[in-house]
Amino acid sequence: MGGMGLKVGIFGGGGYAGAELVRLLAGHPEVGAMGVASRGYAGREIREVYPQLAVGGVYVAPEEIEADGIDVAFVAYGHGESAEAVAGLLRSGVRLVVDLSADFRLPEAGLYGEWYGEHPAPELLAEAHYGLPEVFGAAEGRLVANPGCYPTAAVLALAPVVRRVGPGIRSVTINALSGVSGAGAKPSVKTHFVSVNESANAYGAPRHRHTPEIETVLRRVGETPAVTFVPHLIPVTRGELETIVVDLEEVPEAREVLGWYAEDYRGWGFVEAREEYPHIAHVANTNRCRLSAAVDERAGKLLLFSAVDNLLKGASGAAVQNMNLALGYEEDLGLGHLK
Ligand SMILES: NC(=O)c1ccc[n+]([C@@H]2O[C@H](COP(=O)([O-])OP(=O)(O)OC[C@H]3O[C@@H](n4cnc5c(N)ncnc54)[C@H](OP(=O)(O)O)[C@@H]3O)[C@@H](O)[C@H]2O)c1
Repeated sequence: MGGMGLKVGIFGGGGYAGAELVRLLAGHPEVGAMGVASRGYAGREIREVYPQLAVGGVYVAPEEIEADGIDVAFVAYGHGESAEAVAGLLRSGVRLVVDLSADFRLPEAGLYGEWYGEHPAPELLAEAHYGLPEVFGAAEGRLVANPGCYPTAAVLALAPVVRRVGPGIRSVTINALSGVSGAGAKPSVKTHFVSVNESANAYGAPRHRHTPEIETVLRRVGETPAVTFVPHLIPVTRGELETIVVDLEEVPEAREVLGWYAEDYRGWGFVEAREEYPHIAHVANTNRCRLSAAVDERAGKLLLFSAVDNLLKGASGAAVQNMNLALGYEEDLGLGHLK
């Protein structure tokens, strides 16, 4: 570590989200030095493990990154693993910690307990800022809870509707499709090539862990009923598409909803609404969220469509956007090529 600019530590740099962080932060104009930690890859060159990143440097063990020598830490461990590391980094005086796991996304330990198990650092929950800037603005504190990939797409599509007509919503059904990188780098029988290729399947419903995240976040915006969330695994590497069916007392026109999106996301460069329905291929490898809306006149339902790249706007791109805003930079610093 050393040199000018921000000193950044990436913990979990050997995973999929961590690897994307390495790529983004290596090209970030304010980042001067970067420590990249991995237990499994410590001592190996990053370009040997992930040649496609085309980034120099060597993985180190997590304990080799001195917490008091870094300004910003990104923690990309699984839920339950992250909280303790985050607590240690904050105790050591790191200026900003962006946690990509679910550990600080729910508002209280009881709810976390219902879905994930006992919370390892409940005392920090109150100070976490939910890092969806287009809805909740820039983080002011030291801890950013980076949103889940599915909640990012869902909340960006639903927040403008909930804000205006929340009490009139009778039900929300989210059908989501995700590429396999959403499951992380560790291989499993469920994500093995042979299991997912030429196929598709629902999983996790009706108790996928992103359900309470979507509900609690939307309830901060306006009245929201319980949400039905049905994720599906599809044979693509990256990208997520959600088709959301909203049953409302009075169904607005699609044009009106597109107008709400334009109004609420004016000035935010990574969210765009269009008449054309979004495609996964149009957001993959970008930090964009693309939205659209339609009305099923016959059935009297509002349909919302939302697509993101799970590893960028759904994880690491958003994490860098959150760092930028928390430190007072433009949201797209180092991300301008991903709009
Ligand atoms: N994949 C996505 O699309 C996505 C989207 C949004 C959010 N997220 C969240 O981001 C986090 C990372 O996801 P991922 O998909 O990148 O997972 P991943 O590929 O499984 O990577 C996580 C990495 O963290 C390291 N790690 C885990 N526990 C650790 C511990 N206790 N101490 C030190 N290192 C530990 C492991 O690497 P080493 O053993 O090499 O250290 C592991 O490779 C998860 O919480 C996930 O839910 C992922």
